Amino acid sequence: MAQDQAQIKGLRQSSLIFTGALLPDIGKVVLDQFVKSAIDQILIRVKTQNITFRKAEHQVLGFDHAQVGSLLAKNWHLPPLLQCIIRYYHTPSDAKGCFLEASIVNLADAVYRKIAVGLGLDGPSYPEDDRVTGSIGLNESEIQGVIDGFGMKMERVNALFAGGNHR
Ligand SMILES: [Fe+2]
Repeated sequence: MAQDQAQIKGLRQSSLIFTGALLPDIGKVVLDQFVKSAIDQILIRVKTQNITFRKAEHQVLGFDHAQVGSLLAKNWHLPPLLQCIIRYYHTPSDAKGCFLEASIVNLADAVYRKIAVGLGLDGPSYPEDDRVTGSIGLNESEIQGVIDGFGMKMERVNALFAGGNHR
């Protein structure tokens, strides 16, 4: 979905943005392994205080999964653009050097959450940022086109895993 948006915007690095859309929650995988006990505390705070998952992470851990993810990306020597997307996809407005790319991944992430695909522990607990949607410059029908296209791709993937008849 992020790659579709990037292609509509005519960005040459759409493959890198696609990779960025696959990796942003990598920090969450690490946190889940090493601070498992903290996850419950974070989720309770999200529910009882009605705050974002990231804010609860900061309260409990002092850092968030986007920071962890970008450190991993740096240690793995991933391209700087990818490091930047992973660091700022929840806060594109703070991104220096990858605002548009982080905005694209942010919007793809929000759409995933709305259609309940890739819904992680943090569920729908992120605010929408009008500056981000505005920066991408896709109109409603273009975004709907991306969502419809994604639905068709998902059907093909499901058919592939089901071993059914597909073309
Ligand atoms: Fe995330």
